[in-house]
Amino acid sequence: MKSIDLSIAGKTCIILPGTSFDSLNKFCAPDNTVIICDKNIRILHGDKLSPYRIIEVEPGEGHKTLETVNTIYEQLLTIETDRSTTIVGVGGGIICDITGFAATTYLRGLACGFAPTTLLAQVDASVGGKNGVNYHGYKNLIGTFNQPGFVLCDFSFLRTLPYDELRNGIAEVIKSALISDSTLFEYIEKNCKVIISLNNDAVERIVGDSLKIKTDIVSRDEKESGERRKLNFGHTIGHAIEKAIGLRHGEAISIGMVLAAKLSEMRGTLAREDVLRIESLLTSFNLPTEIGSDRDAIMDAIRKDKKREGTDIHFVLLNGIGNAIIETIGITELEEAIFDLRQHL
Ligand SMILES: NC(=O)c1ccc[n+]([C@@H]2O[C@H](COP(=O)([O-])OP(=O)(O)OC[C@H]3O[C@@H](n4cnc5c(N)ncnc54)[C@H](O)[C@@H]3O)[C@@H](O)[C@H]2O)c1
Ligand SMILES: [Zn+2]
Repeated sequence: MKSIDLSIAGKTCIILPGTSFDSLNKFCAPDNTVIICDKNIRILHGDKLSPYRIIEVEPGEGHKTLETVNTIYEQLLTIETDRSTTIVGVGGGIICDITGFAATTYLRGLACGFAPTTLLAQVDASVGGKNGVNYHGYKNLIGTFNQPGFVLCDFSFLRTLPYDELRNGIAEVIKSALISDSTLFEYIEKNCKVIISLNNDAVERIVGDSLKIKTDIVSRDEKESGERRKLNFGHTIGHAIEKAIGLRHGEAISIGMVLAAKLSEMRGTLAREDVLRIESLLTSFNLPTEIGSDRDAIMDAIRKDKKREGTDIHFVLLNGIGNAIIETIGITELEEAIFDLRQHL
C-alpha cells in the first residue's frame, strides 16, 4: 500500500500502512534498536520481537505515568543506550505515547518509530506527534509534540486484538469519516461485517483512509490551534462520559458523537435522517448511543476539561456527514443542550 509522508515542523514521518513488521530492520539496525512494548504484546507477539532488545512495561492507562517512564530511563541507562540508538514502540496508543515521550526526553531526543498494534493506534495515536503521560489523574497532562521517524502498520497484529479493543478503533474510524469523508462513511455502512472479520481489503481501506484524513488535518495544524480540533469530534462530551462513568474510550466517544450530531441537528446543520444513520452505524458495531448516567457528573467532567477556554468550549459539530465545523459554545448552553437532549433520548 502507498506510504504517506507527514511533514510537521521540518521533520518528516513516513507512515507505512500494510507493511510487515519483519521489515522493521530496514528502518533501524536490530543491534542498535530498543523496543518498548507491554506484557500482552510480549506474550502474544514476542517471537517477532526476538532480534531486538526489549523493555517491557505493564499494560493499562494506570501505568501511563512518569513512574513507568522512569523505569524506561533506568533500563536505557543500564543497556548503555547512546545517541545513535533507535527506540521503537510496539503496542497500542499507550505504548506509542509513552515511547514517544521517553524517546523525546532521553539524551535530549533519540530517533524513534512506532509499530502500532491496535486499530486505534494505527489510525490515530501513532500519528501526529503528540505524546505524553497522565499526571495526578489528568490524562496526557505531561508530554511533548514530536513526530516519530516512521510508523509501520502491520495489519496482522490486529488479529489478536480483543473485539472491545477493535470497537475502540472503529469508533475513531467512524469519527474520521464523519468529520471529512462521506464516501468512507458509506463504505463502512455497507461493509460492517467484512470490517469486523478483518478482511484485508477492508482493513486496508479503513486504515488508509483514516490515516489520510488525520495526516491531512495534522499537517495543516500541528498544535491544535484550529483545524486539528475537528479530530475532537465527539470527544468533549466523550471524555467527560469516559471519566464520569468509566466507559471505554470508543463507547464514550460513540455517545459523544451522537450527542454532537443531535446538537448539530438542533442548530440546523444536520438532517434528522443523518443523525439516525450515525446512530444506526454505531449500533451495528455494538457501540452505545445513549447517555446512561447522571448529567451532573458529566457536566462536572466537561468543566474540568483542560481544553476549555474561559467559559466557552470549541465544540465540533457536523455540517452534513463528512463535514465538520468548529463552533464556540457556552458551557451553560452545552449544559442545557445535554439536559434537553436527554429528555429526547
Ligand atoms: N497521541 C495521540 O495522538 C493519541 C490519540 C489517541 C489516543 N491516544 C492514547 O492512546 C491510548 C489508547 O490506546 P489504545 O486504545 O491502543 O489502548 P492500549 O494501548 O491500552 O491497548 C489496549 C489493550 O490492548 C492490548 N493490545 C495491544 N495490541 C494488541 C494486539 N495486537 N493483540 C492483543 N492485545 C493487544 C494492550 O496490551 C492493552 O491491554 C490512550 O492512552 C490515549 O490517550 C493518543
Ligand atoms: Zn479518541
